[in-house]
Amino acid sequence: MKILAIETSCDETAISILNIKHSVFNILSNVISSQVKIHAKWGGVVPTLAKREHLKNLPTVLEKALSKAKIKNPSKEIDIIAVTHGPGLEPALWTGINFAEDLAKKWNKPLVPVNHMEGHLCSVLLKKNGEKTNLKSQISKMQFPAVALLVSGGHTELILISAQGGPASGWKYKKLGQTRDDAAGEAFDKVAKMMKLGYPGGPIISKLASKFDGSLPARKTDSTSIKLPRPMINSKDFDFSFSGLKTAVLYTIKKIPRLSPNIKKEIAYEFQQAVIDVLISKTKRAVEKYKAQTVIVGGGVVANKKLRKEMKKVFPKVLLPEVKYTGDNAVMIALAGYFRYQNKKPAHKVRALKANGNLKIA
Ligand code: KG4
Ligand code: ZN
Repeated sequence: MKILAIETSCDETAISILNIKHSVFNILSNVISSQVKIHAKWGGVVPTLAKREHLKNLPTVLEKALSKAKIKNPSKEIDIIAVTHGPGLEPALWTGINFAEDLAKKWNKPLVPVNHMEGHLCSVLLKKNGEKTNLKSQISKMQFPAVALLVSGGHTELILISAQGGPASGWKYKKLGQTRDDAAGEAFDKVAKMMKLGYPGGPIISKLASKFDGSLPARKTDSTSIKLPRPMINSKDFDFSFSGLKTAVLYTIKKIPRLSPNIKKEIAYEFQQAVIDVLISKTKRAVEKYKAQTVIVGGGVVANKKLRKEMKKVFPKVLLPEVKYTGDNAVMIALAGYFRYQNKKPAHKVRALKANGNLKIA
């Protein structure tokens, strides 16, 4: 079957088409139109601008996705339509939902709503070059119970996953903890803004931090002169908090009369390390407590090289998405949509679907 998936929860307009036959899938198209340059001017995503851009981009992104997949007659060739209905920015989500509903009506296809975070979770099943992928063998890498750390611009949460027989027969989620204030990616973005480095902050901070490692050979170890807190690292629960860390960066910056390029590198390094230390320590505690067999990490922040390296060191069999699929895309939505459909979750009637900015995974 062929699935067309639409993702508009934040600042990427994305449409992908996936072909799945006898549990083997391949990606026919994966089109992403990024609005990063537009939002960068404002130092973060502006929901009304995101909505305007999605509305403008969706028809062209669809056209490209269909033509890349060599689909001439979608009403005959596409079997189901999947769409992100939350969590995310509601004005942005609505554009995708309305567009998906129009297509479902026009082509007379079932419409499957997808949780964006479930999409990030499924991203670990995708192979780098979109080559043919055996779903069963990918899923067999997951042993249950599993612990998933989802880290993006809007979320930081630890989920316990249990399942009897893989996603088609139903994964069961239990939320173990989440951030009480800022998400990890949001903290990267805000710290970058404080240091006037640009948006999105994650890739910029991580690049700067990697320069600190190499350019100061005397400090090749993990010890730096700037020390930042590791909020909630010793708390007994599985919650996170990154707002205090962000404030600590602000105070550090205020104390320093001139932010030299080297000091910026050092702050970036120490900030990144503080986030990573907390993420890994909490994940480790969850793995130990629930005797998890597999660790899964998903979301935009997993693009972070240092986080990937340390995750692999602490959990040698950790499942990480290919960097290409860490950020928002519609391939992961197509896959999650396929599982939902297989799972016989009723496809929504056209015009019945609602955007839910705070949609929970568990
Ligand atoms: O999943 P995502 O693309 O969108 C949301 O669903 O939020 O995540 C975007 C977040 C942004 O906050 C961005 O700064 C962060 O992921 N990010 C990173 C890196 N690349 C992107 N954070 C840390 N290091 C990176 N290399
Ligand atoms: Zn995301």
